[in-house]
Amino acid sequence: MVKLAVLCSGRGSDLQSIIDSIQRGELQAEISIVITDKPNVMALERAEKAGIKNICVDRKNFDTRADFEAEILKNLVGIDLVVLAGFMRILSPDFVRKFSGRLMNIHPSLLPAFPGAHAHRDVLAYGVKVSGCTVHFVDEGTDSGPIILQSAVKVLDDDTEETLAARVLEQEHIIYPQAIKLFVEGKLKIEGRHVKILED
Ligand code: GAR
Repeated sequence: MVKLAVLCSGRGSDLQSIIDSIQRGELQAEISIVITDKPNVMALERAEKAGIKNICVDRKNFDTRADFEAEILKNLVGIDLVVLAGFMRILSPDFVRKFSGRLMNIHPSLLPAFPGAHAHRDVLAYGVKVSGCTVHFVDEGTDSGPIILQSAVKVLDDDTEETLAARVLEQEHIIYPQAIKLFVEGKLKIEGRHVKILED
């Protein structure tokens, strides 16, 4: 069974979509651990409720990013794929290299448009008519790695950050489990910037 570690910072609805997909028998994988960088967040409750080992590695308890990441790494021994699900920290190049090709992120825009921490705000400010979400492998840049799956939604004239985020999130909950399933089934082939999806 492919072993996943899911890293989160807050609400954990993307985590929940992965848990649900496994529980429905669609995704043949095991979440070995959920790690958060903040205490008392809903992601930890969701993991606990699903009977998944969960820990908080509180960034505040570490002087440097290297120490913080070393503590996370201790908990990733034997993990096949690290899944960033609303994990709001940039990982160091060292960390990223260790999990090259085995580290995924979901971002709430159609990359390479609107990277960074305020995608929906930036989308609305710019006035684009279409937004969406992107699952990608993580490289050493910010939201810049090879793209696995994307899904688009219309941006409406009366959208707020909240209404747009909610519509995008529905798509996130569909494509993140799908992307992980493709990885688990060995169907993703990275060729430079391109991710080929192999047929059955
Ligand atoms: C999701 O919209 C995800 O795409 C975004 O945070 C939200 C987490 O929601 N991630 C990023 O912005 C990463 N830069 P959740 O905690 O309910 O899963």
